[in-house]
Amino acid sequence: MGKPTTLASTPVLALDGVGKSYNGISVLRGISFEIAPGEIHGLLGENGAGKSTLLKILGGAITADAGAVLFDGVPTRLSSPRDSIAHGVSLISQELALVPQRTVLENVFLGGWANAAGFATPAADRRRFDELCAEVGFDLDPHALVASLPLGKAQQVEILKALARGSRVLCLDEPTAALAEAETEQLLEVLRTLAARGTTIVIVSHFLEEVLGIADRITVLRDGAQIATEDASAHTSDSLVRLMVGREVAALSRTPAPLPDSAPVVLKAEGLTNDRILDVSLEVRRGEILGLAGLVGSGRSETLRALFGADRISAGRVSVSGVPVRRATIRRMIDRGLALVPESRKDEGLVLRRTTAENIALPSLGGRQIGGIVRQGAEASAVDRVVAMVDVRGSVRHVPVGALSGGNQQKALFGKWLVTPPEVFLIDEPTRGVDIGAKVNIHNLILDLAAAGTAVIVVSSELEEVMALSHRILVLRAGRVVAEFPSPADREDIMSAAFL
Ligand SMILES: Nc1ncnc2c1ncn2[C@@H]1O[C@H](COP(=O)(O)OP(=O)(O)OP(=O)(O)O)[C@@H](O)[C@H]1O
Ligand SMILES: [Mg+2]
Repeated sequence: MGKPTTLASTPVLALDGVGKSYNGISVLRGISFEIAPGEIHGLLGENGAGKSTLLKILGGAITADAGAVLFDGVPTRLSSPRDSIAHGVSLISQELALVPQRTVLENVFLGGWANAAGFATPAADRRRFDELCAEVGFDLDPHALVASLPLGKAQQVEILKALARGSRVLCLDEPTAALAEAETEQLLEVLRTLAARGTTIVIVSHFLEEVLGIADRITVLRDGAQIATEDASAHTSDSLVRLMVGREVAALSRTPAPLPDSAPVVLKAEGLTNDRILDVSLEVRRGEILGLAGLVGSGRSETLRALFGADRISAGRVSVSGVPVRRATIRRMIDRGLALVPESRKDEGLVLRRTTAENIALPSLGGRQIGGIVRQGAEASAVDRVVAMVDVRGSVRHVPVGALSGGNQQKALFGKWLVTPPEVFLIDEPTRGVDIGAKVNIHNLILDLAAAGTAVIVVSSELEEVMALSHRILVLRAGRVVAEFPSPADREDIMSAAFL
């Protein structure tokens, strides 16, 4: 462990030997560090290292089974979110804890925390709301329904809710994973403002540059153990990766395999139109990786969903290997060899109660019973390959997918398609929440599938990822295809096509 840094002021929060086990397996042990008021503390580690577990302990969502958490030097029992909130700690997870069918204002003051003093009235709430917005520079419509907000704005509502409760420690679990570049910048700026006013921030992120750009100090976890707590200024992304992984990580050096001129078109869409996209035409050939770039809301995911039959189209045509598909439904598209890895794994991708092995076997099982999987041939090797990526202890064979860390769930999602590679693979955000080593694995997996003949369409809010993987890039803007670039494409060209 590196030299511990000493704090100039009394820590607002201290962890002393904190540990947690599940079913006798220790996922966190001996965690001890202090955080000063107004400090931004980055929490780093590979998928499954224990970051979310630590934040959940601070947020009172789960209870530590060893060690102590101290506020202002006083050991404190955190056995519910209520306890944590009472001590001024708010946890903002990726799955936001908002009520979608209520307004922004209602959500901010939900739970009655601001009413504790007994003088809250709608007018007082509204005044307080305006004050808070002004303090942190948010521009939110108090009467908008939360369901109608883009993710970046919904996150702002969570932050306001925490501030309205008087939180002095904000814990954020991968807050930028699903944000676009501009939204990310805005969030980081808000966090800096809050810290400057004395709010303490603990932030988990897989984007190392982002952490280096914002954190005062960082703690690195590896496999449940604390590897270092040090000043961020002492580090570069390379040195952080070495701490996280314990070895050098290969850079993303591979490029897509060259595409033979003879490669036939597998998927062709003409004039796809619905309420989200307008006249989208594209084709992708056997073995080709087509990237879709564009801002959040530009119609990239909606294009994938329309191709997959998940969203209805009001005009346009899709054909697979030259054969038109009449009235596309998901079932029909799957029968034609299409597969979609959706943006949100929780909602659409995985059966959370089932083990990873079962989830992997699902698409190839068809009508067969899931309980008694015959692990042989392709299934067995696919499960092994995913196990190797997901978890060194191999617990994925027995643990329900729902208990895996966020990044490991994302890997399991991919494992599903290794058994029977699809003809056309539509992938929305392939590496969201995935650590830097696993990202290389997932990229290689996509490149391998394409090299073996699968036609791929990939959407990612990380432009670098689209550029690294694609043979060709289409840029969408306001639901239309506005530009096309062969690889290697120029970053600036893509950006200006996406924005203008
Ligand atoms: N309810 C649970 N039951 C069993 N194991 C669990 C449970 N919750 C978490 N774990 C295990 O604890 C370990 C740490 O998980 P955690 O979610 O804290 O990782 P993480 O660092 O946040 O990873 P990621 O970057 O993928 O989000 C993982 O091995 C995970 O499978
Ligand atoms: Mg996590």
